Formats: sequence, C-alpha cells, structure tokens
Amino acid sequence: LDYEVILLGAGQGKRMGASRNKILLHLIGKPVISYSLNTFLNDPACKHIILVTQEDEQDLLAAVVKKENKKKHPITIVSGGSERQYSVFNGLKALLDPKNIVMVHDGARPFVSLAQLKLLHRKVQETRAAILGVPVKDTIKRVVDGIVEETVPRETLWQVQTPQAFYGADLLAVHVRAQQEHYLGTDDASLIEKYSDLPVSMVLGSYENIKLTTPEDMLIGEAIVKRRRN
Ligand code: CTP
Ligand code: MG
Repeated sequence: LDYEVILLGAGQGKRMGASRNKILLHLIGKPVISYSLNTFLNDPACKHIILVTQEDEQDLLAAVVKKENKKKHPITIVSGGSERQYSVFNGLKALLDPKNIVMVHDGARPFVSLAQLKLLHRKVQETRAAILGVPVKDTIKRVVDGIVEETVPRETLWQVQTPQAFYGADLLAVHVRAQQEHYLGTDDASLIEKYSDLPVSMVLGSYENIKLTTPEDMLIGEAIVKRRRN
C-alpha cells in the first residue's frame, strides 16, 4: 500500500532567530525544505506530497516545488494553522483517500533517509501506527525548583522524531477528537495514544535525523550535507 505524506513547513522558526522561516533558509545552496522534499520525491511508495505552508509563503514554496519536482509528481500545497497540530489537520483534509497510509514529517528535518522511510513504511503496514526515534544518550534527571528529584532510568527513554506513520482514517479520527476537546498534543502519536487503542510501534531511526531548531543546528546540518556529498 502506497502512502501520502504531510510535509510541514508552516511554522515561524522563532527559535532559529533568523529573518525568515527556517525551512526556507539555505543549507549549502538549497533551502532546508528541499532536502526532505527530494527524499519523498525519490521514494516510489510515496504517491502524494501535501506541503503545508504559511499563507504568505505559498509563492516561495511553489517556486521551490517547481524547481525540484522535475517529474511532476503529485504535490498539493495547503495553508497551515497557528499550531503544528492544526497544520497537520489542514494537511489531512487534502488526503486523496483516508484509506491510505499517511506519514507526517517536519520540514525542519532535512536528513531523514530513504532507508528509514522504508523501515517505517513496512512497520506501519504491520501495526497501523509507527514512529521513528532513537534511544536517549544523555543521563536525564527530573528537576523541581532547581533541585534534582530523581535520575530517570534511561533504558526505556526514546527521543522521538518524524516521520510518524498511520492510516489516514485513524489519524483523522483522533485529530477530530482533539479538536473537539481543545487538546494540543506534542506530536501525532500522542493523539493516537490518548484517543485510540492502537499501540504505537517505535522504529529505530538515526541520530542524524535532527530537527533544525536553533542556530547551532545549522552548523551540524552543514557538516551532514558535506559528508553525504563525499
Ligand atoms: N509547523 C507547522 N505549523 C505550525 C508550527 C510548526 O507546520 N503552526 C512545522 C514547522 O514548519 C516545522 C515542524 O512543524 O517543520 C516542527 O516545528 P518546529 O521545529 O517547532 O518549527 P517552528 O514552529 O517553525 O519553530 P519555532 O517553534 O522555533 O518557532
Ligand atoms: Mg514550533
């Protein structure tokens, strides 16, 4: 079963502190969003890309799409909302078919690989809900008012990434519930956890699948692009 992807770019990139939305910043010659866009364009299982953008950046994104989408793959550009969750919801409304698998991906994560997409795609077909992540590397402590309360056992802690993969109808249903209850989750899987009985499978991703969030991340990103080119 092929999949559709919701590629999110409708944020503001405030923590990046740049003069424009971080997904449009150039990373060695290409806007950040181009990298993940190309990875999905190169995945034969991906049959529709729904690019979610801010209303006043639609033209800029359309120009990026025109440049990258040489084979005229189906791409739909839709407007985002004030919160990431609302942007996903707007993207869900553009699905070709809710029976399809849908992946949700942060446009600010340029380095997801085709191999990871394949692993995730296989897993979601087995279990209906699957996300990429990596085990936490650092020691994590719970701190209250500046005092350490406990050291959290690390064995079971994972850092969550995107893409996250579901069946369209399942994800739509939990987004509708969340909307009704004015609940904002931290990611799509958290809505599945809260509003459905589906177990969410964790798929081992890569530590390179970082989200470009603050200015230092751009330096790491440049290093990753350079190494991949060699
Ligand atoms: N995003 C979105 N719509 C929003 C908020 C975020 O589509 N209303 C997207 C961003 O474009 C990004 C992804 O969700 O690709 C992850 O969000 P984050 O890293 O928080 O990006 P921003 O919200 O843009 O950054 P910041 O929180 O620093 O403003
Ligand atoms: Mg944000």
